[in-house]
Amino acid sequence: MPSALFSPFPLRGVTLPNRIVVSPMCQYVAEDGSATDWHLMHLGQLAMGAAGLLFTEATAVSAEGRITHGCLGLYSDANEAALGRVVQFCRRHGVAVLGIQLAHAGRKGSARTPLAGGTALAEGERPWTTLAPSALPYGPGWHTPQAMGAAELAAVKGQFTEAAMRAARLGFDLVELHMAHGYLLHQFLSPISNRRDDQYGGASESRMRYPLEVFESVRAALPPGTALGVRVSATDWVEGGWTPAETVALAKRLKALGCDFVDVSSGGLDPRQKVPLGPGYQVPFAAQVKRESGIPTMAVGLITEAEQAEGIVVAGDADLVALGRAIMDDPRWAWRAAAALGADTPYASQYVRAHPKFWPGARRKAA
Ligand SMILES: Cc1cc2nc3c(=O)[nH]c(=O)nc-3n(C[C@H](O)[C@H](O)[C@H](O)COP(=O)(O)O)c2cc1C
Repeated sequence: MPSALFSPFPLRGVTLPNRIVVSPMCQYVAEDGSATDWHLMHLGQLAMGAAGLLFTEATAVSAEGRITHGCLGLYSDANEAALGRVVQFCRRHGVAVLGIQLAHAGRKGSARTPLAGGTALAEGERPWTTLAPSALPYGPGWHTPQAMGAAELAAVKGQFTEAAMRAARLGFDLVELHMAHGYLLHQFLSPISNRRDDQYGGASESRMRYPLEVFESVRAALPPGTALGVRVSATDWVEGGWTPAETVALAKRLKALGCDFVDVSSGGLDPRQKVPLGPGYQVPFAAQVKRESGIPTMAVGLITEAEQAEGIVVAGDADLVALGRAIMDDPRWAWRAAAALGADTPYASQYVRAHPKFWPGARRKAA
């Protein structure tokens, strides 16, 4: 039986050569939102690691939409030029389809990097005013955000759209909108962070309205062949929060608007969350969204083994399998998965002599 993980998957105008995805991973070393040599090295090496799709880290649509001062952005010509250099390298030397995750941190912005504690910036650390659906801080010690009025709603939607146009200009094959992990669009979805009493708050349908409006605007701005999906948190893992049933309803609405896939994660909205971590712990949510809405899904979270990833695709739980830390640990994870599953996968020409077909050492290593 040929490997399901190494079978191609078409998404709108692009076909992923296999089902392995490098999940978005913040690096916190951008300068005024612009990619640096670190990004060239980081994304460059991952692009040739043979995953079918490589995502940039969460890329902010405005300076205020960043989580930290070091977050990547795509809101200025300088940002576009800096990321363009990285994209060109990945295209020239890599084998992965390139995707960008566009994000706005909302009330979780103006923060220190995780290494510096991940807490809110203090006076003297150039904090900024954050935006959110309601003026409710993320948790104790966090900035109280400004509740978005009509002007801010229009401006942020415009920023997502403008950033998507820049991404298309840079030649990204695929765009993912970040509606997960407690960032701005998730803040609209969850009844914990969204206490608005206008058409964007209240019932589930109304809480979905702004994220769906942003999706529609971005879809209309992208070339028809560019795939567009979203990352969601299927649950807040907090009593009274956003639920898997609401996630399915959102997926159905997105599908009707031309969404190509849903990348199913969880949590991040409320520090009170209790997450039952374990191998593949979020896969059942991806399976539920796929089964009940019919949209292609991407599973993520503690997927580390080739056979585990293969099993998810074979079972039909998800169409795509995203890995974060396992690929940071081993950027050639897909090479080894191919060998383990008896599949073949392209190598960058410069590295082809390490291919198991040409290198006897590969067999000795596997033994
Ligand atoms: C260093 C690091 C940075 C991350 N940054 C992002 C991000 O920018 N956007 C996002 O949606 N998730 C982000 N995540 C979450 C990962 O994409 C992924 O969902 C999570 O790590 C679980 O997958 P894993 O168990 O394979 O690592 C990050 C995770 C790590 C470890």
